[in-house]
Amino acid sequence: MLEAAVEVADAALAHHQSRYEWVRLPWGSDYYLSSGRMMPEDGLEQLRGFAAILLGAVGDPRVPDHVTLSGLLLPIRRGFDQYLCIRPVRLYHGVASPLSGIAAEEIDLVIYRENTEGEYADVGGRLHRGSEAEIAVQANVFTRRGCRRIIEAAFVGATARRHRVTSITKSNAQGYGMVLWDEVFEEVSAQYPQVETRSLLVDAAAMDLVRRPGNFDVVVASNLFGDILSDLAAAVAGGVGLAPSGNINPGRTAPSMFEPVHGSAPDIAGEGIANPVAAVLSVAMMFDHLGETSVASCVRDAVETVLAAGTFLTPDLGGRATTRDVTRAIVGALPA
Ligand code: IPM
Ligand code: MN
Repeated sequence: MLEAAVEVADAALAHHQSRYEWVRLPWGSDYYLSSGRMMPEDGLEQLRGFAAILLGAVGDPRVPDHVTLSGLLLPIRRGFDQYLCIRPVRLYHGVASPLSGIAAEEIDLVIYRENTEGEYADVGGRLHRGSEAEIAVQANVFTRRGCRRIIEAAFVGATARRHRVTSITKSNAQGYGMVLWDEVFEEVSAQYPQVETRSLLVDAAAMDLVRRPGNFDVVVASNLFGDILSDLAAAVAGGVGLAPSGNINPGRTAPSMFEPVHGSAPDIAGEGIANPVAAVLSVAMMFDHLGETSVASCVRDAVETVLAAGTFLTPDLGGRATTRDVTRAIVGALPA
């Protein structure tokens, strides 16, 4: 999948007389099975010097998921302070929503997911393992600084869009961390009077994403809620095969990382029919971050052209094309 994205990226760069050097790091489940680690001990140091990271989907039935993710993806997000996870969701022309009566372009939202703390903070422990008295504690960590910086980013994002921010918590039941989040949301809102705001509980937000997805513009949510809602939002806009994401370190003190929202789809692994669009759109986000904005928009335009034409669609979108077909079609649709 990543190779498809790299191919599109190289073709788009060539049109702009530009070039980036890719360094492929084989870190993942095969690497784990041979070395006992998902990445080398000095993995973060090795990554630090790169302009950006493009991450393939991680996950393999032979390795427990919490091992795969706690050994690679999550340490990179936290270690490089990629606190801003941006997940844009759009219903493209040529793609059908599973909801009836929704027209193309009616869904156009972006999720700002907190990416370094909250429910993913990696704080907790287990006691009396294996016995009936076993205890597992998983702490949610919400800091004022952590809430403020993601919420501020969402407001900045909204001022370049339709000026609406929806904050999502469950502060009626999570009375400490998420009440802190709500308070910080109020404080930051006051600094952006031109932005319309809403605070929703996550259960109601899930319902509204299905009932009225067109009402959302910028959505800001904690790590876990942002994760869950990004799959839900992607599904109503045609599926996770189309959903890109960026794990951003806005201060640029370390590289940012771009990856599809979806996982490794082991059910179709090796069949050559996975949708490359999410990975290709992740590359477009990467180029925006690198300041190559015209390369990014060419890639996006090519994707939109291919989706709208409908000739080369993978099975998840109701078509019969392979990953290769779609990749070639996107390369062919790049403006010369
Ligand atoms: C995602 C994924 C990851 C997450 C998993 C694989 C840990 O679901 O990027 O959305 O929850 O962040
Ligand atoms: Mn997810």
